[in-house]
Amino acid sequence: MRKILIATEKPFASVAVKKISKVFKSAGYDLKLLENYTSKQELLDAVSKVDAVIIRSDKIDAEVLLAAKKLKIIVRAGAGYDNVDLKTATKNNVVVMNTPGQNANAVAELAIGMAILGIRELFSGKPGGELRGRTLGLHGFGFVARNVFRIARALGMKVIVYTRYSKHAAAAIGLKVTNSLEQLYEKSDIVSIHVPAKGEHLKSVSYEVLKHLKDGSIIVNTARKEVINESDLVKIMEEKSGIKYLSDVTPECEDEFAEKFPGRYFFTPKKAGAQTAEANLNAGLAAAEQIVDFFEKGDCTYQVNKKAL
Ligand code: 3PG
Repeated sequence: MRKILIATEKPFASVAVKKISKVFKSAGYDLKLLENYTSKQELLDAVSKVDAVIIRSDKIDAEVLLAAKKLKIIVRAGAGYDNVDLKTATKNNVVVMNTPGQNANAVAELAIGMAILGIRELFSGKPGGELRGRTLGLHGFGFVARNVFRIARALGMKVIVYTRYSKHAAAAIGLKVTNSLEQLYEKSDIVSIHVPAKGEHLKSVSYEVLKHLKDGSIIVNTARKEVINESDLVKIMEEKSGIKYLSDVTPECEDEFAEKFPGRYFFTPKKAGAQTAEANLNAGLAAAEQIVDFFEKGDCTYQVNKKAL
């Protein structure tokens, strides 16, 4: 009997766990749950006996992969897989998948929520502004950004985008694609970041880009803290005292923000973008179905690591 583990340091909503259990039950698989775990040892013990694991932002490094002797597949229920050591997974013949798009609306709603929080002066009572008529710059144009676009348009915002890989998709729906990242930051009242924490995107939001922001603009980051150069961010916020930064997860330099920029930032204490019952259901169920399809049909559609030779 196949053994499956859900290892979620930040658990799914219980309605999602119930439905995922049903998928595995009807496939005849055995499901174990490791939720809210607090030590790596618990994860190491739990993975040692299973054929497949569903995770969220849980860290799967070389040590975890070494302990997972029987493991054939990891599905990251969500988009970003920067928490998985892909090279070691490939070396160990473990397939890694994500569930693209499944939690995108939840993250997009948080991005818009943060834009509102920012423009309303963090609901402090200070007079704020409105999103209608403002220019929203989408840095990246994946599933989350497309949902942000849909909502922003309904709010009466002007939306522009910088993307290298989805230019045609953006232009096809009438979105203005800027010629450079610098131009996007220069023209936007609010920038919303939607690029993955890998390759050219790491620290891509640098001083060279940030210096083009207007004073008074708002940066919303529901992607990853690794895409921003934090010391450059601090520098531009020192130079332009109207800039605000709202982010889903706290940056390394939180203390510096507290000291220098009161009233100009907001950080979620724990990554909250995909923390909705709907997103948990969509991503969790997709992960479960992908595991069943992998074992029953050899389906590797959403594989994100290289296939072992
Ligand atoms: C993702 O990459 O899908 C989001 O950042 C959600 O992460 P989470 O599953 O840890 O909430």
